[in-house]
Amino acid sequence: PKAITVPAIKAMAANGEKFTMLTAYDATFSSLLSGLGVETLLIGDSLGMVVQGQESTLPVSVDEMVYHVQAVARGNKGALLVADMPFNSYGTVEQCLDTAGKLMQAGAHMVKLEGGAWLCESVTAMSRMGIPSCVHMGLTPQSVNKFGGYKVQGREDDAAKAMINEAVAVAEAGADFILLECVPSDLGKAITEAVPVPVIGIGAGNDTDGQVLVCYDMLGLTQHRLPKFVKNYMQVHGNYEAAVTAYIQEVKAKTFPSKEHGFE
Ligand code: KIV
Ligand code: NA
Repeated sequence: PKAITVPAIKAMAANGEKFTMLTAYDATFSSLLSGLGVETLLIGDSLGMVVQGQESTLPVSVDEMVYHVQAVARGNKGALLVADMPFNSYGTVEQCLDTAGKLMQAGAHMVKLEGGAWLCESVTAMSRMGIPSCVHMGLTPQSVNKFGGYKVQGREDDAAKAMINEAVAVAEAGADFILLECVPSDLGKAITEAVPVPVIGIGAGNDTDGQVLVCYDMLGLTQHRLPKFVKNYMQVHGNYEAAVTAYIQEVKAKTFPSKEHGFE
């Protein structure tokens, strides 16, 4: 199959065609998931928790991300590869360019970073360098110590309005995608309508342009309690091929996520 590009995903979103993302951390998952038609793979810093067994994503280093991006790139069969910039690797424009450059040279096609309007200058600088970016907003797990836990964000009117404005600002600055984690479904819809770029959701309702899940969660491999927004496709479908195929079909048909996977 033809390799998926950033403009191809933008065209899908513009045509109202939903797209899928799953996390991948190694060559085997990369090859399986991309081979089944998952359009975008995220080398997420969630690997700190699900692969390394850390308490949070904060301990993950740039070198560790590079290692996993290289592995995923070797297995990839045409998916767009998005690599997380880990905690403490993009605090200044200079540091951001340095980290993003390393991840791109490891085989990523886009980098993802957590924050809001404060990232505008870095996003513009990356765009000038030819580095596509995805800004992760809402529940940003690298800020768990500020939030005091993994909590739904943007529930109050003021916070919701501020998030919409910040999403518009980062898109204007040159962000290619926005990812929303754990926000009320109506806010997920409002941000998707407010910005001209594709929006990917996880616990953000089914009006976003794309959906993402952690692959171990949707394949029922995760040992701890799953968040409300996860659906265990292995439980229903019994084998990984059927499970991943059902995920793709349900995202395209807008039947996943359903109301029970979202927040009011
Ligand atoms: O690291 C990750 O897996 C993520 C997704 C949950 C969006 O950032
Ligand atoms: Na992440």
